[in-house]
Formats: sequence, structure tokens, C-alpha cells
Amino acid sequence: TKVASEPVPNGVTKGGARIVVDDDEDVLSPTDLSEMLAEGTKESHDRAENCQFVKDFLRGRIQRELFKRGTEALYFVYSAMEEEIEKNKDHPSIAPIYFPTELHRREALGRDLEYFYGEDWESQISLSAGTKPYVDRIHEVGEKDPVLLVAHSYTRYMGDLSGGQILKKVAQRALKLPSTGEGLNFYQFEGIHSHKGFKQLYRSRMNELELDVETKERLVDESNRAFGFNMMVFTELDGIGKTIKEEVQDAGFGHSHAEIMEGG
Ligand code: HEM
Repeated sequence: TKVASEPVPNGVTKGGARIVVDDDEDVLSPTDLSEMLAEGTKESHDRAENCQFVKDFLRGRIQRELFKRGTEALYFVYSAMEEEIEKNKDHPSIAPIYFPTELHRREALGRDLEYFYGEDWESQISLSAGTKPYVDRIHEVGEKDPVLLVAHSYTRYMGDLSGGQILKKVAQRALKLPSTGEGLNFYQFEGIHSHKGFKQLYRSRMNELELDVETKERLVDESNRAFGFNMMVFTELDGIGKTIKEEVQDAGFGHSHAEIMEGG
């Protein structure tokens, strides 16, 4: 067990405030929520990492148009999530994991969309069919069963603080985005200096929530659902990517794959 400094909302570490973080494996229990979530979503994580869109992205095979659409989808997801978290910030299971300054992404995503679409970005974006069920579920949960927002926060923010950093570098290279970070604000957590440290704090806060085992199990289920919704978004993007490629091919060579296959 380590003693860690607790970040205060402005991101500066306040000397006096110290909290105990259980990050050593020997002090973790299988009924700790952080462990149940990590263990219970392993398969979903594997599936997410191995879906076509994500694999292409990791290889640097990402079209600018798709990256824009992905950013757009995330804007709607985080707007919903952060709206519901804000409404429920005094809920006993939400208050301990409420870190608006450190985590919230809506504004950052808005700046990214402004970079990609220009000043009137808001009139150019729309909620896609593949993203809508995710957004609807977040609102449903926020209204009827706010404790489940813990699962939605965990699935996105912990992922963003982990694999997200790899994606940032890949996107920057593949799309030749400026080194100033324009278009990539989403991946940049200005209020967090140590991703590892923050993830430990977040895990310890989740573990301090007073939840019975049944509720913890419902949170694991909800996190797996959230992974599923993310996969729906990826699948939709993958489909859009294919239509864009065909358009490019048609424009460039005058022959589609189908014509070539048919000897046309
Ligand atoms: C954790 C990579 C996709 C959600 C991690 C970790 C890595 C990683 C390396 C471990 C961090 C650690 O041990 O502290 C990746 C890569 C991905 C990917 C390379 C593909 C591009 C996703 C997706 C989601 C996600 C699509 C969900 C939307 C999470 C979560 C954790 C995590 C919730 C925290 C697990 C825990 O410790 O409880 N990811 N990830 N990841 N990732 Fe991903």
C-alpha cells in the first residue's frame, strides 16, 4: 500500500491532502469493484481491440474523414455522459468519481470538431444511427439507475487514459496533424499529469463505493454493454470507410472492385 498525493480539481497537487491507494496486488480483493471490472471485461476488451476498424486504426490506416466521424460520435457520447454525471454529481456513488476538471472531454471534443469542420461545426454534425443506442442508454441510465453511470465512466475514461495515448500518436502521424495538438485535444488530459497515478486514484475511489455484490455485478454487465456500444460505433465507421474507399476508387480509376472481378 502506497501513500499518494491526491490531485485537487485544478490539477495541482495539494501538499496536505493525502490518500491511501491500494495498488499492490496483494491488497486487492477479487470483490473490489476495480478488479471485478478489469476481470469481467477482459473478453470485451479483446474483442474491441481486434475489430477491423480498431486494427486498421492501430496500423495507421485511418482516413481523415473517418477520424472526423469518430470524433463526432465521441462528442455525442461524452456530451450525454457528462450531462448525466453532472445531474447526478451528488449521488453517493457518483460524487467520489466526479472529476470534471481532470476527465471531462466534451469541451476538448468541441475544439477538435471546430478544427476539422470550422467555426460552424455545430450545424454540421449529427448523431449517427450507430451512436444513437449508446447515447440513449446513457440517458436512460442517468435517469433511472444512476449508479450504472460508474460503468460508463470507467469504460471510457479508463480506456482513454490507457490505449488512448497510443491512438493519439498513431492519428498524429497518419493524418499529419500539427504537433501543437490541434484536432487531438480529446486525447490530451490537461488536468492529469500522471495517467498511471490518476488511474490508481480512480480505482481506489471505485473500490470505496458502498455497493453490494449484486450491484457490482450489474456494473460489470453495464460495462460490457458499453463495450458493445463502442463496437457498434466502430462497425458503423468501418462501413462508412468502405463506401469512401469505393468512391475514391471510382473517382480515380473508373472501375470498382466488382467490375474488375466480373471482368468488366
Ligand atoms: C486498459 C490498450 C481499446 C477500454 C487498457 C490497457 C491498455 C489498453 C494497454 C492497460 C492499461 C493498464 O494496465 O493500466 C488498448 C488498445 C486499444 C484499446 C491498444 C485499441 C485501440 C479499448 C476500447 C475500450 C477500452 C475500445 C472501450 C471503449 C479500456 C479500459 C481499460 C483499458 C476500461 C482499463 C482496464 C482496467 O484496468 O480496469 N487498454 N485499449 N480499450 N482499456 Fe483499452
